[in-house]
Amino acid sequence: MPSSSHPHSFRLNPADYSALVGRAAAEPNLYWACESERLLWKTAPLQTQCEEKGWFPGGMLNASVNCLDRHLDTRGDQKALIWQAEDAGHVLTFTYKTLHERVCRMANVLRDQGIQAGDRVAIHLPSVPEGLIAMLACARIGAIHVVLFGGFSPEAISDRLADSGAALVITANVGRRGPKRIPFKATLDAALDLRPETLAVNTVLVVSVTDDEVGMKPERDSWLTPLLEKAAPDCVPQHMPSSAPLFLLYTSGSTGKPKGIVHGTGGYLVWASYTHELVFDHQDGDIFWCTADIGWITGHTYGVYGPLLNGGTVLLFEGMPSYPEPGRWWSVIQDHKVTTFYTSPTAIRALMREGDAVVQRYDLSSLRVLGTVGEPISQEAWSWFNDHVGGGRCAFVDTWWQTESGGIMISPVPGAVREKPASATLPLPGVHPVLLDERGVTREGAAEGVLCLKGSWPGRALSIWNDDGLFERTYLQPYPGYYFTGDGARRDEDGYYWITGRVDDVINVSGHRIGSAEIEDALATELTIAESAAIGIPHDLKGQGIVVYVVARDNAPDDLHIRAAKAITSKVGRYAAPERIHVVPDLPKTRSGKSVRRLLRKIACGETEGFGDLSTLADPEIVETLIRIIQTPA
Ligand code: PRX
Repeated sequence: MPSSSHPHSFRLNPADYSALVGRAAAEPNLYWACESERLLWKTAPLQTQCEEKGWFPGGMLNASVNCLDRHLDTRGDQKALIWQAEDAGHVLTFTYKTLHERVCRMANVLRDQGIQAGDRVAIHLPSVPEGLIAMLACARIGAIHVVLFGGFSPEAISDRLADSGAALVITANVGRRGPKRIPFKATLDAALDLRPETLAVNTVLVVSVTDDEVGMKPERDSWLTPLLEKAAPDCVPQHMPSSAPLFLLYTSGSTGKPKGIVHGTGGYLVWASYTHELVFDHQDGDIFWCTADIGWITGHTYGVYGPLLNGGTVLLFEGMPSYPEPGRWWSVIQDHKVTTFYTSPTAIRALMREGDAVVQRYDLSSLRVLGTVGEPISQEAWSWFNDHVGGGRCAFVDTWWQTESGGIMISPVPGAVREKPASATLPLPGVHPVLLDERGVTREGAAEGVLCLKGSWPGRALSIWNDDGLFERTYLQPYPGYYFTGDGARRDEDGYYWITGRVDDVINVSGHRIGSAEIEDALATELTIAESAAIGIPHDLKGQGIVVYVVARDNAPDDLHIRAAKAITSKVGRYAAPERIHVVPDLPKTRSGKSVRRLLRKIACGETEGFGDLSTLADPEIVETLIRIIQTPA
């Protein structure tokens, strides 16, 4: 099996790993108390976990101190961040000392603008160093960061700003994307103009990524650079209780409204540090490249917090995998001697298509650990990545986790857990997955079922912003006594987990979570649409693609398709653009009026039979009608 051929020496061997699993299971309190010592606490926690007060109650700490200050004596001159611009000749390097100074300056700017502990600060930036710096600057003064993905539409931004109550936004004039310029500031302006009465934003700070001019409202907008230059290079950190929110991150679920997942400070940071060290076999001198945007949880935990907590070096790349030519990512690995490369199956599928010759042109011998996240990876993509990028020499970690879990939950551990291509393998020490059947009964041994987690873990989200009840209803009530992940999984005879995908109405497009209800709510804003259903179907490149069925109101216009597509991209974002939109006379519904998604999925996949008993439908004939519509070329 692959792991036996790794020539590297890893931190853990199978015996050490088994000992960790044993200790975590036998004495969880002691285990997590020891793990909490990986952080620097202003006041040590009184206990590990408390039902009401979350993880490490009584503890006080500061996240930026843990990521930066504590390394200054030992690694002040070591690289903390390497930023590779899209232009190959443009690289910025920040040592722990210089990053500390930049974060302090930014934190002082935020304080000068009136931001205090507990306030929300939105960060809406392309992949430039200021994103990471702004996150740590918020953490330094106890403000809660809310990173907004650059691909969100003004509507999506406006909703998130309103829900979070952010007072200040940091954006850029533009982002670079190949030859294109992405209008960050203009998109934010449009978001701020949509429903100003719902927003608390009174300050916008603008990073000048290029010298492109953008409109500025003098009473609200300021360029960031002059403020940073004036700010003091030192900033007294605000120590926060362990359970104080460190950040909110919006993600999609089964309800239409995106949820602001709240992560705390102490528990989250322990989890980020623990999982980064264990799963990526973190060692001194590693260059860690996580290709995820900081707008997603992967970018938070492994693009920023995990590696910096552990004194590592983060690589941040501004550009795209294949611009200006195929092989660009490989040249970044070669030039910066990346040791640990963490990416998504979607990206791998796209890169595979460029052919093996491209990757062979580069020297990727610095790589030691390869990782994937976000969606199930096929055996074919696993093998290609392992053989052609990793040269068969690297550990391969297919990591399963989610925004709510804070960090990795199920994954191989290099040197310790034998890999099986396309399996997330085993839970990390201290993680206890269970598989349940539809009645909530636990399935033992080799089985398939709904994936739930027993007990808590330090990285678990605290709540949903503004809606503690929704957190309970979504995660804790569906299967009492367990945390419900929303995923299905199979466990094989070796106890290995194989994630089968979402069991709720969440669609995973290129590793991005999109709720069916989110798309249907967007379509409901188009007045010519009476009702709709969005479902996910398998897609070669994206993992899943979106198919939408819309039922028109009377006298629907001819351009209904275009209107429907526009409603989705303007409400949600371009990343949610559907593959196909079918205008249909009705949806298959039960007599109680519920759309039967299972049928919609089968029909969209081109199936024409095997639909089972249709007699429970209000109108069984609609199935034939839909099949006919779908099979008629547009
Ligand atoms: O369905 C699972 C899938 O991504 C979902 C979580 O999405 P998000 O919160 O956006 O976080 C993505 C990055 C952590 C999960 O519920 N997923 C994540 N990792 C894997 C995966 N599916 C299969 N294999 C994985 N390794």
